[in-house]
Amino acid sequence: MSLNKLKKNTSFTIMKKVLEFVLTTREKVNIMFRHVKKADIFGIWDNFNSVLKEAVFLPVLTPVETEWEKKAWFDNLKKENEMCIIAENLDLKSPKHIVGQCELSNLQWEAATHVFNLGIIVRKEYRDTGIGRLLIDIAIREAKRLHNKEKIILSCFSTNKRGLYLYESMGFKKIGVRKNQFYMNNEYYDEVLFDIFLDDYLNEHQE
Ligand SMILES: CC(C)(COP(=O)(O)OP(=O)(O)OC[C@H]1O[C@@H](n2cnc3c(N)ncnc32)[C@H](O)[C@@H]1OP(=O)(O)O)[C@@H](O)C(=O)NCCC(=O)NCCS
Repeated sequence: MSLNKLKKNTSFTIMKKVLEFVLTTREKVNIMFRHVKKADIFGIWDNFNSVLKEAVFLPVLTPVETEWEKKAWFDNLKKENEMCIIAENLDLKSPKHIVGQCELSNLQWEAATHVFNLGIIVRKEYRDTGIGRLLIDIAIREAKRLHNKEKIILSCFSTNKRGLYLYESMGFKKIGVRKNQFYMNNEYYDEVLFDIFLDDYLNEHQE
């Protein structure tokens, strides 16, 4: 695991050989990083809906409320052999325990099975502590290790300065901009497209 980019005053412990890490933030909060479990479903959607309420980062307008939708998401993740890495505050109970999540999903095309699409959200109060960077780092490593993917793509609003900075600083290449791709709250938003080749990232960030 590359620690170069983590904040100096965080500590990081590898708990087990399987994926399970604990990061202690500057505020001495213990954050566990691991694959999602069924018991996390309500936390996942609580986190998602809290970021949705900010109404500036995601091109989605309607919160996910029903138990059916929440469970269907998890069942689909498993069925489609997709992946979700979560950051859990070990001091909090469900549904507030999930403070970050990074989902890697398949593209709709049969000819693009070597590619994952990445979506990430970190709860507002936990941003700028290195959680997003670590979620993406783990997601990239697990995408290679478990799924042998070659490439990850993602996109973000051109107004999302934190996101743009984070992706570029991790080596994602900006490959284009879709002008006025989204319309929300009486405003148009441009969508910035990024991709990264996993072998390039892994060569640059040796364990
Ligand atoms: C984008 C997001 C996932 C990043 O997660 P995070 O945990 O805050 O990320 P990190 O703390 O690892 O890194 C954030 C970096 O951005 C930097 N940053 C913060 N605000 C910034 C700004 N306005 N301009 C440039 N850089 C900024 C931080 O200093 C930090 O840099 P560093 O690692 O060099 O210190 C998170 O902020 C988030 O969920 N935002 C809302 C939802 C969202 O935008 N999702 C992504 C949609 S594509």
